[in-house]
Amino acid sequence: MLAEWFTHLSTPCPQPYRRMGYLRELIAIERRHHRCRAAWASHLANCHKLITEAASSCTGKGKVVVLGSGLLLDIPLPHLAKEFDQVVLVDICHLGSTRRQTRDFKNVQLVEADISGVADPLERWLSSDDQQPLPVPVVDRNLVTDADYVVSSNLLAQLPLTLLGWLKKKSPSNNSESLQIFSRNIVDHHLSLLQSLDCPVTLITETLRLISNGEKTLNKIDPLFAAPLLYEGEEWWWDVAPRPEIDRDFDVRLQVRGIANLSNASHVRFCRNTTLAAP
Ligand SMILES: C[S@@+](CC[C@H](N)C(=O)[O-])C[C@H]1O[C@@H](n2cnc3c(N)ncnc32)[C@H](O)[C@@H]1O
Repeated sequence: MLAEWFTHLSTPCPQPYRRMGYLRELIAIERRHHRCRAAWASHLANCHKLITEAASSCTGKGKVVVLGSGLLLDIPLPHLAKEFDQVVLVDICHLGSTRRQTRDFKNVQLVEADISGVADPLERWLSSDDQQPLPVPVVDRNLVTDADYVVSSNLLAQLPLTLLGWLKKKSPSNNSESLQIFSRNIVDHHLSLLQSLDCPVTLITETLRLISNGEKTLNKIDPLFAAPLLYEGEEWWWDVAPRPEIDRDFDVRLQVRGIANLSNASHVRFCRNTTLAAP
């Protein structure tokens, strides 16, 4: 508890993003990883393998941009730093543990930025009295300018979550339909940013959140707010919160899809229930 409090105080993070809960969430992920290390191992190994192979097959080796670099748990940093002249790690903020991991690499740069493109507009919307519709994302393409390779790993479904929590807290009168549209816009904008790039792009994202009691499924949640992800890829399960991490009676598992290169990936040809049978 004391260590988390100290990390919270000592990590540089702009006040509005602190208030929204981004830093708290990042610290919570670090603690959860410590507790669930064994359960997360195969998921993280799958991410490393997919990104390592995709990075090796890139023809341009100038700059790689990692969006949502976080704690670098799923990112093979030494490999990227060896393969590319420049590695740019983008997240809303970076913990000291991430900074320490990057210290030995001369070609790694940390960039703090909001990738959703709607955190600042939301803050302005919340402090205005006008009854305007909820803001839509304005994405900063400068983050990926000149990239030879872009990675978005375990970020897409996270992008709406903190903002949605903040919005529900600060403006509880929004109806569920407008919250759904707000969240879906964020997912769509990140997907269209990735799709618009003309370099190889690796996308790893959860596609289904499953709550079970060990015997039967109790709830299935679409973490992409019904945005279609029409790319084939490798699929696996991530036991993100096995009992008793969140609840002593429930497990939370994520179905994850890893698409090595969006521009080469074949498209899902028909709508189907993509839910994997839980192993
Ligand atoms: C599940 S973690 C991803 C894990 C990360 N790739 C790793 O290896 O540790 C999601 C990451 O997305 C970041 N994130 C969430 N919303 C963001 C935003 N609007 N802008 C930038 N980063 C954001 C979080 O800070 C967190 O580091």
